[in-house]
Amino acid sequence: MTTTATRPAGAKPRAAIEAKTLRTDRWWLAPVLTVIGLTAWVAYATFRVFMQKLYWVDAYHYLTPFYSPCVSLGCDPAAAEFGRFIPDSPLIPFAALSLPFLLLFRLTCYYYRKAYYRSFWLSPPACAVPDGHTKYSGETRFPLIFQNAHRYAFYAAVLISLLNTWDAVIAMHSPSGFGFGLGNVILWINVIMLWAYTASCHSCRHIIGGRLKHFSKHPVRYRLWGWVSKLNARHMGLAWITLATLALTDFYIMGLAAGWWSDLRFIG
Ligand code: FES
Repeated sequence: MTTTATRPAGAKPRAAIEAKTLRTDRWWLAPVLTVIGLTAWVAYATFRVFMQKLYWVDAYHYLTPFYSPCVSLGCDPAAAEFGRFIPDSPLIPFAALSLPFLLLFRLTCYYYRKAYYRSFWLSPPACAVPDGHTKYSGETRFPLIFQNAHRYAFYAAVLISLLNTWDAVIAMHSPSGFGFGLGNVILWINVIMLWAYTASCHSCRHIIGGRLKHFSKHPVRYRLWGWVSKLNARHMGLAWITLATLALTDFYIMGLAAGWWSDLRFIG
């Protein structure tokens, strides 16, 4: 490729630089940490989703988000709030109704795209560092054109966040009726963070405030758009925080179900 055709008159030719990059800072640190973080999380989630046990605490109605909604014929009937109707197989997660949509939502998320394009595909790994690939066809062709499904995955994610909220409501239970313990605190923190992450989605921001010519004519949408925009600025942080709250919530409930520890109870 030559640059002379587009170079303004009088401009000097581009310097011939042999070095791959002139950056001397630790630009590789962010991609490396991303690979470690995402790989560890996916490994843990895959292990737990296919474990098919230690997902429900009957005394307090705690259900881990990795098994919600529990709709497999293999689910504990008490945990199957919405019925059991999918085959019980070691290859089919108990929450097979929601997990594919959640996976799609995260995989097509604008932040995660940036994260895994940079860290796993090195495309490019950082600013001013060359692409690890010689060709780049972008997101306008197969297969990456399917990243456009994100806006539809967003609607599914809203429904699943409602489900998670319902799980947190019915978990305020004890053998004597109403109850509240450390597990509830953990479940509610997770749900609030999931809502914050979902509401901070770029598609959500567009649905709420996009395509408007005059904000002054839509004061409610303008107000909502302002709130969502504030959250949107924290989307990356919320993406990581929710991975942490999901894994911690699951781990806490697994530990309770396994009898590794008992729930700290405040009421009931
Ligand atoms: Fe990340 Fe929509 S952009 S969830």
